[in-house]
Amino acid sequence: MAEELSISTELSKKEKYQQLNPQILALIEGETSLVANLANVVAALRQTFGFFWVGFYLVDGDELVLGPFQGEIACTRIGFGKGVCGTTWKEKQTIIVPNVDEFPGHIACSSASQSEIVIPIITNNEVAAVLDVDSHVLNDFDEDDKVGLEKISNLLTPFFI
Ligand code: SME
Repeated sequence: MAEELSISTELSKKEKYQQLNPQILALIEGETSLVANLANVVAALRQTFGFFWVGFYLVDGDELVLGPFQGEIACTRIGFGKGVCGTTWKEKQTIIVPNVDEFPGHIACSSASQSEIVIPIITNNEVAAVLDVDSHVLNDFDEDDKVGLEKISNLLTPFFI
């Protein structure tokens, strides 16, 4: 297991995702604990990008339940189709929200959150969890985040089977 992350500070966001991906794989591939791996992934993302809030919600019956995260305390349960996370679960695809105030039904865990991206983790065509990242500035997430975070989420898929 890698002892520490090595990400060059002068890189673009896209390049940082490219540098981070194999390091996350190295972090998780020798560990079978889902919780340990999710915890290290959110820590690696927070350390690399300084995200305001980053964490997982795991499907449990008809709800998403809060999993490992870094940031302020957050709501613990989200229904299917509710908020950005529940809508991502329902639609089985990544949602980028440039302004959370303009997303109908957005669940405000923190009033400081202004934009958001949520990525589904899909196994056997079913959503097993979502990765949620919040920013305290508007319009903070783009295609580079979508591609980078989807690749990281794909690394986690085997741990949910
Ligand atoms: N904003 C999310 C809820 C989770 S928090 O942002 C941590 C939503 O609308 O689903």
